[in-house]
Amino acid sequence: MSDVRVSIVVPTYNERDNLEELFDRIARSLSGYDYEIIIVDDDSPDRTWERAMELSNKYPVRVIRRTDEKGLSSAVIRGFREASGDVFVVMDADLQHPPEKIPELLRAIEEGADIAIASRYVRGGGVKNWYWYRKLISRGAILVGRVALPKIRNVKDPVSGFFALRREVVEGVELNPVGFKILMEILIKGNYRKVVEVPFTFGLRKAGESKLSGKTIFNYIKHVIRLMRWEGELDRIIKFSIVGLSGVLVNEGFLWLFVRKFGINKMIANVIATELAILNNFTWNDLWTFKDLRSVPFYRRIIRFHIAALMGAAVQLAIYGGLLYAGVDYLLANLVGIGFSFIVRFLFNRNVTWG
Ligand code: GDD
Ligand code: MN
Repeated sequence: MSDVRVSIVVPTYNERDNLEELFDRIARSLSGYDYEIIIVDDDSPDRTWERAMELSNKYPVRVIRRTDEKGLSSAVIRGFREASGDVFVVMDADLQHPPEKIPELLRAIEEGADIAIASRYVRGGGVKNWYWYRKLISRGAILVGRVALPKIRNVKDPVSGFFALRREVVEGVELNPVGFKILMEILIKGNYRKVVEVPFTFGLRKAGESKLSGKTIFNYIKHVIRLMRWEGELDRIIKFSIVGLSGVLVNEGFLWLFVRKFGINKMIANVIATELAILNNFTWNDLWTFKDLRSVPFYRRIIRFHIAALMGAAVQLAIYGGLLYAGVDYLLANLVGIGFSFIVRFLFNRNVTWG
């Protein structure tokens, strides 16, 4: 890796007292590497930029003091723009990201990864001193992101703030500077093939305090939805809904036809009409909603679509029954059941039938 230049991008806001240890530990970890550290500071009141400037006599540090713009992601993007390296590393200044992990990330890149993530959620990784509910929120948020964005479903920690990437991954890519989860933005929009996750323990903040707070969750959800739109996943949900509605019409139409015109028993007529509706929905989803995802053979798609329908019906019935038992109004209970059935069917079809 000695012939490769590394740019370490560190966004900072009020991190003055962490800089010296950070630079020192980076220097020890990367001796023998050609590297630069790029501090992108948003004009911190504690004059982090000034301290970084002082330390640049001793360490290979460049300081960007921004006065016109604020925000974690936009700081990282700015750092990329200024970076001269072939490989970029992104990390926090507060030493929750141990600099000693950087060589491992670089090795993963050297061995062929385009993006190497320091991950809390692969075997050997973890977090220090988090309450169970903090872990639960973190895990839950990640699960939502992975389920909503199939492109990143194999990444265990897509919101890590500690990662390395080849320059080409983000070069020429328009990254949205809103939100904190710059890695997720990169994983969705970047140019890459191989992602590797290296376990690490998210440590304790050395000095100062965290800037990310409660409304982060709300912003995160907004970010996920924006990325879903970018990926076209939101369009799929709309198409899937339209197809579902068309199925209701087909179902009712045939039921009427069979009962009124052919005099078929109402139970049997319902079964046939339902099957015809399922076939209608399958056809339109196959030709329209998921037309770009037809990789499994036709007979498997159609079988799996039926499994999804059955699962949806089972979920709907179970929730309906459960809520009735809990004393919920039957119409409301049915609506909630239908909602969950929709989610189950969409996710199964998106990830398995057309996965
Ligand atoms: N330039 C700039 N502008 N830097 C910022 C800003 C900002 O508006 N807000 C935060 N930072 C810097 C901090 O100074 C620190 O170096 C780094 O970004 C992370 O901020 P923290 O406040 O320490 O965040 P955290 O510890 O709560 O969150 C970290 O862990 C998350 C995973 O749980 C971050 O690494 C997140 O990116 C990560 O998702
Ligand atoms: Mn932190």
